[in-house]
Amino acid sequence: MNSSFRFIRALKRQPVDSTPVWFMRQAGRYLPEYRAMRERVGGFLGMCQNPEIAAEITLQPLKRFPLDAAIIFSDILTIPDAMGLGLYFATHEGPHFQNPIRDAKAVAKLPIPCPEADLGYVMDAVRLTVKECGDKTPVIGFCGSPWTVATYMVEGQGSRTFSIIKAMMMNEPLVLKGLLQKVTQASCQYLEAQIQAGVEAVMVFDTWGGALSGAAYHEFSLHYMQEIVRYLKAKTLTQSIPIILFTKQGGQWLESIADTGCDAIGIDWTQDLANAKARVGRQVALQGNLDPTVLYARPDIIQREVQGVLANYGYGSGHIFNLGHGIFPDVNPEHVAAMIEAVKKYSPRYHQAEMIKDNAQNGTV
Ligand code: CP3
Repeated sequence: MNSSFRFIRALKRQPVDSTPVWFMRQAGRYLPEYRAMRERVGGFLGMCQNPEIAAEITLQPLKRFPLDAAIIFSDILTIPDAMGLGLYFATHEGPHFQNPIRDAKAVAKLPIPCPEADLGYVMDAVRLTVKECGDKTPVIGFCGSPWTVATYMVEGQGSRTFSIIKAMMMNEPLVLKGLLQKVTQASCQYLEAQIQAGVEAVMVFDTWGGALSGAAYHEFSLHYMQEIVRYLKAKTLTQSIPIILFTKQGGQWLESIADTGCDAIGIDWTQDLANAKARVGRQVALQGNLDPTVLYARPDIIQREVQGVLANYGYGSGHIFNLGHGIFPDVNPEHVAAMIEAVKKYSPRYHQAEMIKDNAQNGTV
């Protein structure tokens, strides 16, 4: 591993010269070159399943902006698709499954996909991207949290109320746990294979953990993310790879998330970074947390808001600048440029003291 990457160093809370920056959905619809590619290929899934195209799209935002990490262009629903659920995207409607999982029989029949055989297109995209990035940029691998992936598998599509999976959780908790266990096993192997293919950090997206009560969150979401962390930290090949856990609306559970042994926590914009740092900053790095709607403002306002986020985290390493959730598709790419420019311009001051100390300790000054 090239530990001189600013992003990897910050994840390990080692001194950096400036705050690293990347953002969720950085390869996506707000980029005209992405929309042109989608038009040409004829759909999102087709782009994910073609490794050359997925690698090219992963790199599109890096050609425009001085980002500190690339995230592999794929989706959290590749695992259930490989389990045979029949993933498709209806125009402007988000993901759907032809065969949702509703009972114990369906859970029992689910196979655990083999990453190289059944999801080889993701591993090939990782290998191509890592080769392109060389020692310039680290590549992030990812999966969804078992709970978040299961919401789509059980509901059959996105949901506002999660009525079907929550009824299952209460009426048939063991059926749901059987499903979560299978998705967990698949996710462990999937992340391990991405690491073998060359990713230098992994992130688990728990978009819907925040829809649960505290007790249910610990039992049905965090418990399974904990298993993923334990699996990766137990193996020689994967244990040094930083793990980021991101539960949207999970600010109240930061202490338990940090106790999983993850390296970093993704923070959404509803959480105060200074408060999060005071609570768990000695244990983990923090990634976030500009409100994605700030990018609708004028560039000078965006730059002021970026300064606010940097000041909120304050001095020292352990911060990775990001949005609090994915970028919206109708954001002007020039506004993204303004955000990144502000991170590069205003963040070095928060690292100067630590860098001087580090250089002195290493005898480089
Ligand atoms: O961040 C990145 O640039 C990497 C790629 C990435 C995508 N999806 C590409 C994508 C990642 C990390 C994801 C994760 C993902 N996918 C999550 C968790 C993170 C989050 O956003 O909460 C979830 C819940 C999904 C499932 C999913 N995929 C949904 C709900 C949708 C439709 C919503 C939407 O934004 O359109 C997708 C489609 C999707 N995944 C797109 C992209 C770029 C849009 C596809 C298109 O229409 O071109």
